Amino acid sequence: MRFLTALSIAVLSWEASASPVVEKRQAAQRITINPARTYQEIDGFGFSAAFQRANLIINLPAPKQKQVLDLLFNTQNGTGFSILRNGIGSTPNSNSDYMNTILPRNPGSPNAAPQYVWDRKDSGQLWLSQQAVSYGVSTIYANAWSAPGFMKNNNNDMNGGSLCGVTGVTCSSGDWKQAYANYLVQYIKFYAQENVTVTHLAFLNEPDLTTSYASMRSNGQQATDFLKVLNPTLKEAGLGDVQIACCEGTGWNSGNQLIQEISRAGGDSLYHLATAHTYTSDFNGPLQTTKKFWQSEYSDLSSSNPWTTSWTDGLKWAGILHRAMTVGRMNGYLWWEGVQWPNPNTNEKLILIDGQNFTVAKRLWAFAGYSRYIRPGAYRIDATGGNLQTSAYLNKDGTIVVVILNTGNNAANVQLAGITAASAESYVTDNTRDMGSQAVTVASDGSVSGAVPARSLVTFRITV
Ligand SMILES: *[C@@H]1O[C@H](CO)[C@@H](O)[C@H](O)[C@H]1NC(C)=O
Ligand SMILES: *[C@@H]1O[C@H](CO)[C@@H](O)[C@H](O)[C@H]1NC(C)=O
Ligand SMILES: *[C@@H]1O[C@H](CO)[C@@H](O)[C@H](O)[C@H]1NC(C)=O
Repeated sequence: MRFLTALSIAVLSWEASASPVVEKRQAAQRITINPARTYQEIDGFGFSAAFQRANLIINLPAPKQKQVLDLLFNTQNGTGFSILRNGIGSTPNSNSDYMNTILPRNPGSPNAAPQYVWDRKDSGQLWLSQQAVSYGVSTIYANAWSAPGFMKNNNNDMNGGSLCGVTGVTCSSGDWKQAYANYLVQYIKFYAQENVTVTHLAFLNEPDLTTSYASMRSNGQQATDFLKVLNPTLKEAGLGDVQIACCEGTGWNSGNQLIQEISRAGGDSLYHLATAHTYTSDFNGPLQTTKKFWQSEYSDLSSSNPWTTSWTDGLKWAGILHRAMTVGRMNGYLWWEGVQWPNPNTNEKLILIDGQNFTVAKRLWAFAGYSRYIRPGAYRIDATGGNLQTSAYLNKDGTIVVVILNTGNNAANVQLAGITAASAESYVTDNTRDMGSQAVTVASDGSVSGAVPARSLVTFRITV
């Protein structure tokens, strides 16, 4: 009961009984951690800075630039994001917030020699990728929203349309599947030249949706048609280690539908990672696949919810992340834009960059509660007991991470049992703290005890 001496004053509660009312310390909720019972492997947590948002960081004055990079990638005092999702550009220019393509000119036919152009910027994403790598990020996910327009039946990289040569899409210009695969390989090679290893590649984004910006339609049969070309093309280029991801459905339902269609079309062996967003339908469980899967883009895009830095919003996201790890059993969870400007001032960003200044939303710290200490290669492990939203993880280095969300208005205390801790740390985010260090006690039996304040997210990092 050593932890009792460490309890703070916030834990007193009154309990009525037959005898006169006695003052009692609130009993600790016992949560049993079982590292032998494992669930999904964690690839990481991430975000995107596509559509030139990376340039907002580049344009900050140096000290603030460093602060924003620390907030995003630092595993000591930031979020420690471990996945960066870049947009492979398809637009011939960089007007507005477009992502420019490495093949701005139509070579004339699918077999004509393409004239690739590498600007060593990639809409700011190359620089951001290099920064991410310098912080230890090893998962760089390159994702095309569309093929260049001349490869599509609408002759435009925007407004939907489909890749020429897939089932049901015949174009007078020919079959561009091989040319598109070569193009994606060339993009990865340009990054390799800059010492950035692209580890994951996707050729579709929200293929169930037509938008006025870069977009390309595909069903699962059509995706399979292209995978049959892309998969061997990567191998022949010596890029067989690149993990092919598919298909970034706009919602969990359409994402599921796409991967079932690929399955029926015989394409299961041609890709490695299933991905879906949760805009048009939320997850209610894992994606229906035996492959790893990520929720690869989500945020609150609603213009009727103006930009908020509030912890009420942060708590909401902590709850989403808890469900994503436990109910969704996701291998990866990615936010949408890491940074964004104020116009329009929606909540699709974690950090608002307004010219030379920036403001951090509390939801960034909700991500930090998971992402900073649950490192790539960790496995989620069993955590049972108590009435808080608890999940636990075993890192490759042997450390155990327990993340506990208390959305209630009453403070709680927990005792983490089933493990033999040598030492432990505890970090709390609430209305006033951002991953603030707080007291934690290791008992002689190796259990770990500490407080989980009202309306807080607490991360325990335990060395066994
Ligand atoms: C975070 O840590 C880095 C060193 O990794 C340091 O340079 C930076 O000042 C720290 N930031 C804060 C806010 O403590
Ligand atoms: C890539 O790394 C090599 C070896 O360290 C180095 O010589 C080269 O300058 C680097 N290239 C870039 C673009 O950073
Ligand atoms: C940005 O910060 C500077 C210095 O603190 C200040 O002078 C300027 O008004 C700020 N700009 C905006 C748009 O808030």
